[in-house]
Amino acid sequence: MNLFDVYPLYDVSPVKANDVFITDNKGNKYLDFYGGHGVVSIGHSNPHYVSKLKEQLDAIGFYSNAVQNPLQIELAKKLGELSGYKEYNLFLCNSGAEANENALKLASFYNGKKRVITFDNSFHGRTSLAVSVTDNQKINAPINSTNPNLGAGAFYYTENFYVGLSFPNMLEVSHLKTQNGKISNVSEKMHYFVTSGYVFDLTGNLKFKPSTMIKAVSGAPLSIDVSANFLFNEKVEIGASYRLDDSVSGLVTFQIARGFRMGYAYDYTISNLGDYNDGSHEAFLLWDIFSTEKNIKSPRFF
Ligand SMILES: Cc1ncc(COP(=O)(O)O)c(C=O)c1O
Repeated sequence: MNLFDVYPLYDVSPVKANDVFITDNKGNKYLDFYGGHGVVSIGHSNPHYVSKLKEQLDAIGFYSNAVQNPLQIELAKKLGELSGYKEYNLFLCNSGAEANENALKLASFYNGKKRVITFDNSFHGRTSLAVSVTDNQKINAPINSTNPNLGAGAFYYTENFYVGLSFPNMLEVSHLKTQNGKISNVSEKMHYFVTSGYVFDLTGNLKFKPSTMIKAVSGAPLSIDVSANFLFNEKVEIGASYRLDDSVSGLVTFQIARGFRMGYAYDYTISNLGDYNDGSHEAFLLWDIFSTEKNIKSPRFF
């Protein structure tokens, strides 16, 4: 496994540090002007800090925060005295990002506001709220963001046949940029859907519908579904479907009232991804909102 390539690194490997000096793995000694990230600014290997850490690690290295920890109470008391804010509460966390994240949350809980003013090119850490208040899109994932889009489609049908064409996302939405030659671009491209089916009347109360759906998007393999569904007495539907090199599924639906059908489908993945999931179950209710007298008498089987 390689280390995640976060940003370019200086070609220095510090192996020892003391007060304001560091020594690298080639024996070079540097006067260290780097103050850290505002943490442990007490000089490298401060003897008091080192002995306190050793003492604690020898006693107990970690335990859950669900138990009493008198050390935290002692720390809060000391910080209150030193800062002059004895009546304040101390919230302990692991990182600067978490501290900022919680400060933003606390402010929003307190004043009920949703917007934050920040400086251009500011940085507050890499957790979700901390990155949502920076204009640096490279570190801002689009989780929970809303991107308006536009879709269009056309559907043609006769008594026994249908064909449809649609483009649900016509606008390409780009979430990340490519910078310094690194591909960090995630975009939603336009998908094309074509669907078609034909209903054969096998006997008076049995219909058979072979159908297909083809999905195309540039940069991904063509996705092709072929399905075969049977409808008994215009009330019970049973079907099976195969998605090329991807999955097989089965479906059953029942008409429970006029214009209402309920159903269940199970989808089993046959590609490599099947090693990591047990398939998906889907329960659904179909409601024919704009049903007319005509299609209730003879419901379309698509
Ligand atoms: C200005 C600033 N804010 C917040 C952070 C986040 O701190 P941490 O890395 O401890 O999460 C950093 C860390 O690089 C920082 O430089």
